[in-house]
Amino acid sequence: MAAAITRADIDAAHARLAQGPANFLRTTPLWRLPGAALGLACAEVWLKLEQLQVSGSFKARGMLHRLLAQPIPAAGVIVASGGNAGIATAAAAQALGVRCEVFVPQISSPAKQARLRALGAQVQVVGSAYAEALAACLTRQGETGALLTHAYDQPEVVAGAGTLARELEEQGGGLPDSLLVSVGGGGLIGGIAAWCEGRSRVVALEPVLAPTLFRAREAGAPVDVQVGGVAADALGAKRIGSIGFGVAQQHVQQALLLDDAAITAAQQWLWRELRLAVEPAAALGLAALQSGAYVPAAGERVGLVLCGGNVDPAQLA
Ligand SMILES: Cc1ncc(COP(=O)(O)O)c(C=O)c1O
Repeated sequence: MAAAITRADIDAAHARLAQGPANFLRTTPLWRLPGAALGLACAEVWLKLEQLQVSGSFKARGMLHRLLAQPIPAAGVIVASGGNAGIATAAAAQALGVRCEVFVPQISSPAKQARLRALGAQVQVVGSAYAEALAACLTRQGETGALLTHAYDQPEVVAGAGTLARELEEQGGGLPDSLLVSVGGGGLIGGIAAWCEGRSRVVALEPVLAPTLFRAREAGAPVDVQVGGVAADALGAKRIGSIGFGVAQQHVQQALLLDDAAITAAQQWLWRELRLAVEPAAALGLAALQSGAYVPAAGERVGLVLCGGNVDPAQLA
């Protein structure tokens, strides 16, 4: 079965995004460091600094792409997420001058709710967990007819995420030998792996406490898993999306699990040694290298995607 997202889709997403609002999406920097700079034996580590993307995460690519690809009704756009997908949707809607309604569960932090409101979104706080916020969002969407954005399982969202890998390849003059990518619902890795098509070794990384792709690979199909841990606000999808899973079955070469201690240690290291402020979800790549879960070859060029920076600076020591 062909992957649902292809390089052609990602080229098309890139072209469409280029027609989008000026000065909204950023071309995020690519740092190429010798492995030794990170205390590693591999030849190079490439850091894609996507935590500097507008809205603080790669999600802005997919959300804006979805909004540009579909007609937007007068009711605007609607999303359930107090996290990065919600913030990215609200930012994209503001840039396009359309209404945005965001459903968040009560556990969503006041800071995130304030951020959504500052972006002009109408915030509805419903239920104690994401599933209840989503149910209310879908009911409301049925009433208003607003355009729904999904955090990871819509073709436009995955293709938009894939533009990150396209950009990285252009900046690096080619792909690194391997790319270590964090996985929640699979939109990010789906886009990246679809772009790479095996030309770079794509390694899926998940917390031990949120193993959605790992368990789906064992089962041969997406399955529900229990999720928790330090990265749950970003990597806490209960089930891998069908698009991301389909691409991963073809183009993801390896899947690894990392414990919370390794993730937090890598997050703190990035701040302490490189002054890079990232959220836990963006630290899994370095955690895999520093913990020895992923051991690159001596001459290998390893790419890490620092996919989000929405972290409370007080948490960085
Ligand atoms: C910072 C960050 N990294 C990674 C992910 C995982 O992305 P996906 O759900 O597309 O796998 C998310 C999802 O919210 C995120 O916010």
